[in-house]
Amino acid sequence: MKVTILHGNIVSAPELGKLDITENGYLVAEDGIIVGVYETLPEKYAGCEVEDYGDKLVFQTFSDMHLHAPQYAMLGMGMDMPLIDWLNTYTFPTEAHFADTEMARKIYKQLAHELIANGTTRVVMFSSLHRESTLILMEELEKAGVTGYVGKVNMDRNGGENYQETTEESMEETIKWLEQCNFEHIKPIITPRFTPTCTNELMAFLGKLAKEKNLPIQSHLSENTGELAWVAELHPECKQYWETYDIYDLWNDKTVMAHCVWSDERERKAIKDAGVWIAHCGDSNLNLISGYMPVREMLNEGLRVTLGSDIAGGDRLSMFAVTASTIRGSKARRIMDNWQSEFLSVPEGYYLGTSAAAEFFGEKPGFAAGNPLHAIVLTDDKLPAVRELTVQERFERCIYRRQPDAVQVVWSAGRKVYTAE
Ligand code: GUN
Ligand code: FE
Repeated sequence: MKVTILHGNIVSAPELGKLDITENGYLVAEDGIIVGVYETLPEKYAGCEVEDYGDKLVFQTFSDMHLHAPQYAMLGMGMDMPLIDWLNTYTFPTEAHFADTEMARKIYKQLAHELIANGTTRVVMFSSLHRESTLILMEELEKAGVTGYVGKVNMDRNGGENYQETTEESMEETIKWLEQCNFEHIKPIITPRFTPTCTNELMAFLGKLAKEKNLPIQSHLSENTGELAWVAELHPECKQYWETYDIYDLWNDKTVMAHCVWSDERERKAIKDAGVWIAHCGDSNLNLISGYMPVREMLNEGLRVTLGSDIAGGDRLSMFAVTASTIRGSKARRIMDNWQSEFLSVPEGYYLGTSAAAEFFGEKPGFAAGNPLHAIVLTDDKLPAVRELTVQERFERCIYRRQPDAVQVVWSAGRKVYTAE
């Protein structure tokens, strides 16, 4: 048995708004699975090697529950249009380039490393239409130490001239892709891009496939009002957007829906009743001027809210930055809600970026026993302070501000996958 012991100031979020801080503590894993967090090292580990990180901070890693890998190449560009124009003008032409597998390899390798270097070890990710490049993406994530789900995107309508499959192609390529997925830590997820780009026939096929193979599902929901109107036009038989997924068996407790900005009470009840996961992508919603999800209200309603960078609608890959901007966004929401909604605290933001997705990955919140070891070791020794800071103060600062070499070591699924140079 391989024992891993991390020694440092250990900070985790076991529930929304609660922080567990063990100063000068020990995080212990056996064969990559967490056994516990201890103030003093249990006797049985006395002779074991300790990874001694001294006064450094040991955080949970982040889960990015919604992002588009090919859009990594357009990060920070094309922020001057609403969703549908943005997709047609910038996004689809960019994604079309990923027919080129050599280019895909280079860009996806860089993406995988940047994710790990920022402490993101779990993802729920969109690739492009292309089967081969999707497999390359999965391989590069696996090699870098990222875990989670990647989907070959399906779209057989409204992709313009250069970025669309026929219905048959989409089905055949998806089946082939699933047969070729054979990775230890990166698994496939069924990915109808969103209702406007998928015919009923394709949606029905994907729903059936997900059911048969017991696969999770990801898509987009109620992001932008223009999109809502388009979906209503395409599906007069459905009262609301979510039903266009539900009628095809794409709506269940293994479904991740990005955005849900405009989901009203009825749609939110459907989300809750089905156990659908929400990936809140505040940066993207502001950049594309889509709206802003009432995050506190949805948490109060008991919805499963997680966070996504949604690059390149979102302009920041680091989930530290996404967490900070989610908190900031909740404050904007409070102002616009006439001071009626509560903003998110830093521990709450950290929970959303880390523990909130635990159950989706078959884990428990925080550094719970039984979870695979995912941890970031952070240093803040070069940041100024006028007095000695508490661990909680250092934790809060690290969400907003980190020195250039702040991320020292990253552990993912029990493996040390990153060490700062
Ligand atoms: N809806 C359909 N596709 C996309 C996409 O790539 N990004 C965002 N933000 N919304 C979408
Ligand atoms: Fe998206």
